[in-house]
Amino acid sequence: MRKNKIERETQIPKHIAMIMDGNGRWAKKRLLPRSVGHKYGMERMIGLMEHAFDLGVEYMTVYALSTENLKRPQDELNGLFNLIRNHFKEYMGRICERGIRLRILGDVTLLPDDVVQILRESEAETLKYDTGKGINVALGYGSRSELVRAVNQAVERGEKVTEESFSNLLYTGGLPDPDLIIRTGKEVRLSNFLLYQAAYAELYFSDKMFPEFSDKELDKAIVEYSYRTRRFGKTDEQLKKH
Ligand code: FPP
Repeated sequence: MRKNKIERETQIPKHIAMIMDGNGRWAKKRLLPRSVGHKYGMERMIGLMEHAFDLGVEYMTVYALSTENLKRPQDELNGLFNLIRNHFKEYMGRICERGIRLRILGDVTLLPDDVVQILRESEAETLKYDTGKGINVALGYGSRSELVRAVNQAVERGEKVTEESFSNLLYTGGLPDPDLIIRTGKEVRLSNFLLYQAAYAELYFSDKMFPEFSDKELDKAIVEYSYRTRRFGKTDEQLKKH
């Protein structure tokens, strides 16, 4: 019988990536401003990270702001930037003090200077950690522009790339690919997130809006992942031999 609870034999993904969708709809349903939805979203994001690392996950990558999101009304963007200004260092510090390296993925030149400074300082504070655990926050991130940037870097260096050298040119260079990508908010698409890195990721879509995606919901996603057979293009028979 399939279970919903994490058990000793549950396979815990090494790297979980999350598309945190639905903050706005969650707030709208409660007649609250979208910025309140993002605030609850940020708190949930931290809660989920704590829970995931407790379970033995080694990397968490979260999609906090896409290049496309940067076209949203300035009011909403200011709300998100203010969340970073007022809470990012404290919230991230709380988790990273477990020895977790923080990395920001994306084109930070698209963000206000003072926000970039906070992000860079927060990253720098975790440079000392080498436990192999990491949190990656994608901000001003778009997978297509990440790929184009990597191609241009290779061209400028006059380099012919391999799959490995190319993946090192991405913002995620040196990090393992995500094993499980979770999207909340009822939409079933990747929205320009980790398109190269997602080649063999298991995908999980939840109808929950992000602020209501509880630790239990994360457990459910991990258990579902654990039931999947990851063949990486091979046959079942080939897998059994290993
Ligand atoms: C998408 O939901 C979510 C975002 C654009 C922002 C995600 C941000 C957080 C969860 C917290 C903030 C974290 C940092 C680091 C700033 P949506 O607003 O598009 O929701 P909707 O589809 O219901 O409108």
